[in-house]
Amino acid sequence: MIAREIRDRLYWMGAVDWDRRLFDSLIPLPDGTSYNAYLVQGSERTALLDTVDPPMADVLMFQLERVPRVDYVVAHHAEQDHSGTIPQVLQRYEDAQVVTTPKGKGMLVDLLRIPAERVVTVEDGETLSLGDRTLEFLHTPWVHWPETMVTYLPEERILFSCDFFGSHLATTELYVTEEQEWRVYEAAKRYYAEIMMPFRRVIQRNLTKVGQREVELIAPSHGPMYPRPAFIQDAYRDWVSEEPKNEVVLPYISMHGSTRRMVEYLVSALAERGVTVHQFDLAVTDIGKLAIALVDAATIVIGTPTVHVGPHPHVIYAVQLANALRPKVKFASIIGSYGWNSQVVEQIAGMIPNLQVEVLDPVLCQGFPRPDDFEALDRLASAIAGKHRERGLFSGD
Ligand code: FEO
Repeated sequence: MIAREIRDRLYWMGAVDWDRRLFDSLIPLPDGTSYNAYLVQGSERTALLDTVDPPMADVLMFQLERVPRVDYVVAHHAEQDHSGTIPQVLQRYEDAQVVTTPKGKGMLVDLLRIPAERVVTVEDGETLSLGDRTLEFLHTPWVHWPETMVTYLPEERILFSCDFFGSHLATTELYVTEEQEWRVYEAAKRYYAEIMMPFRRVIQRNLTKVGQREVELIAPSHGPMYPRPAFIQDAYRDWVSEEPKNEVVLPYISMHGSTRRMVEYLVSALAERGVTVHQFDLAVTDIGKLAIALVDAATIVIGTPTVHVGPHPHVIYAVQLANALRPKVKFASIIGSYGWNSQVVEQIAGMIPNLQVEVLDPVLCQGFPRPDDFEALDRLASAIAGKHRERGLFSGD
């Protein structure tokens, strides 16, 4: 991939990683990703904004062969998918300085062993002149690390947002087109769910902060750019909002069909009562889809059989993930079958300290569910629908 011109003396650079399927050895990437860097040339100085993940360093270094001078390398974020090629860039441009936040400086030195004397720090709101162009740095801590910032280019009204507003999506399109918006919406929501959701309230504040700039183009460091910024800004406002939707997320595992039968019954009972349900068999599900569903859900119901007294290990993983992602769910419950003894309720309750939820009566049954177990599931469905109605989550409420 060669560098591509966005505006006069302003280029997209970086690498499209079509084949990557896992990020942080954890996050599924069904559509690959990209590591976007941007070259901004002013009348007097040139800045490179971010770099690429080290395995794709050659792509960026090839693009830079035609660039005789880089004065600044702006590091919005110390995570290696953006900062990892800075050492090679500094080696090629011996006078270049790295520009980052004070926290970013320490992290770049620690993670990449960049010499401290080559790093200058900028405060929130500080500007850097490139001649006829200006870089304004806005600190956006915890989007999604403590050191993160974005850059605003007022002369072009472009916001370089790094991870903020990003999407893991490999594409040859530089921009989100109208036809592509819904594909990018899902990729960006997946990205938000997996990366940003734990910092939802901080992101609310940072959304307001960057919203004070007049922006014609948002240029993130993953996925295509947004020529209609309101598309992604409105989506973020919805995702970080306080109120959930009339939705239940139901991740479950079943070993011999008993828990599955309970899940099927509850899903049907909820649907009958007008509640939308997202059901995930944890043996086969894409964990990113589960994360997406957690963005809006008002209730999470865990379905688990009992394995050696506790929850199934796949369920433990999903519960720990949900706890780490800190979704805005308000209610929780547990259903499942056990053979002779169970402590799944106590054990799962102890795994979700980050979820500020009201726990609704769990339904556990011994063996295959009997009529009274189905009645208990009906009561649970009614309780969930009632709680959603009390919060005004039903459309038309
Ligand atoms: Fe794209 Fe947090 O790195």
